[in-house]
Amino acid sequence: MIKIEHLRKEYENATPLKDVSVEINDGDVISIIGPSGTGKSTLMRCINRLDTPTSGKIWVNGVDVTDPATDLSIVRRKMGMVFQAFNLFEHLTVIENIMFAPVELLGKSKQEAADRAMELLEMVGLADKYFNYPDELSGGQKQRIAIARTLAMDPDIILFDEPTSALDPTMVGEVQSVIRDLSQTGKTLIIVTHEMNFARAICNRVFYMDEGGIYEDGTPEQIFDYPQKENTRRFIKKLKILEIDINTPDYNAIEVFEKLDDYCNKNNVIPATGKKMRLVFEETVGLIMKDAYDIPDSVDVKSHIEYSAASDSVTMTFDYAGPERNVLEDGDEISLNIIRSKVTEMSYEKTDDKDFSNRLVLTIKE
Ligand SMILES: Nc1ncnc2c1ncn2[C@@H]1O[C@H](COP(=O)(O)OP(=O)(O)O)[C@@H](O)[C@H]1O
Ligand SMILES: [Mg+2]
Repeated sequence: MIKIEHLRKEYENATPLKDVSVEINDGDVISIIGPSGTGKSTLMRCINRLDTPTSGKIWVNGVDVTDPATDLSIVRRKMGMVFQAFNLFEHLTVIENIMFAPVELLGKSKQEAADRAMELLEMVGLADKYFNYPDELSGGQKQRIAIARTLAMDPDIILFDEPTSALDPTMVGEVQSVIRDLSQTGKTLIIVTHEMNFARAICNRVFYMDEGGIYEDGTPEQIFDYPQKENTRRFIKKLKILEIDINTPDYNAIEVFEKLDDYCNKNNVIPATGKKMRLVFEETVGLIMKDAYDIPDSVDVKSHIEYSAASDSVTMTFDYAGPERNVLEDGDEISLNIIRSKVTEMSYEKTDDKDFSNRLVLTIKE
């Protein structure tokens, strides 16, 4: 069990943790979410004492890790951490990476460590990579090796700090699936992740961090579907709904695509649908912007994108300025054909909004 009482962490220019008290039970699988800079990483680093709390107490399995007399190396053996940036030893092979700590810290024989390493490689689906170097692996493979390396110490508690956020979207699933398997083993897992469907599938608790601490603590259903407090509500809404405003035909498409990819990741939208979203977004904005006015710069588009897990579909709403104009009727035929081939429904309506009186609603369904 991890017990935290009145934990405070001050840095010179920030106090991310003001007064945190919480108990984490053995076997809890917890997702930590919250805006950037709210102390998620700081909390993890205080728990495994990579960082020193300013005040407060933390007990890990009954041992006070904030007591200067405590031998931290013993506590850390039972607590692993997996970072966003993998942190593998680049000059060691995969198997040497996994054997290193058990041999150096636990005094295991090389044979014993190698046997266990092979078992773990099997478990993360990379048994054939044992002799490769990290730079010969993809990001997803590196992260699976980093997890195997952590498991080699047989920890009771594993802390994951955004384990999939540095990965290409196509590789997120393979890492999530390894963590999913781990969540069945009774270990205590604490995972900073904004991937809601993943968190829903494996976590029994979600911590929303804000305003210097754990602002709301509940089950995934409570936090994701029925958040009680204002900041949580606002944050969850932003996770579920993506809003992109475009006010020039020369908008930065790369940046928009990154936002779309990020959104798809967090909401577990499958890559094929993500691809369609990109194409539909680009063509639709083109359609609205093109030939609309003498001064194209004056056209504003507000888009609103929402994925529904229940119907496995994405609704893309485009509100645009200017006089009444149904681009589905007078838009460029080539663009329209591309859009038609990707969407299952599309409709136009005139709205009462005095600035954005045109609304286009497109639905993509797998
Ligand atoms: N080592 C550090 N030195 C100074 N300030 C830090 C340090 N680590 C984090 N901070 C500050 O503490 C706040 C919380 O950071 P962090 O825990 O990384 O947030 P999160 O992981 O939620 O994005 C931020 O304002 C950050 O700038
Ligand atoms: Mg962080």
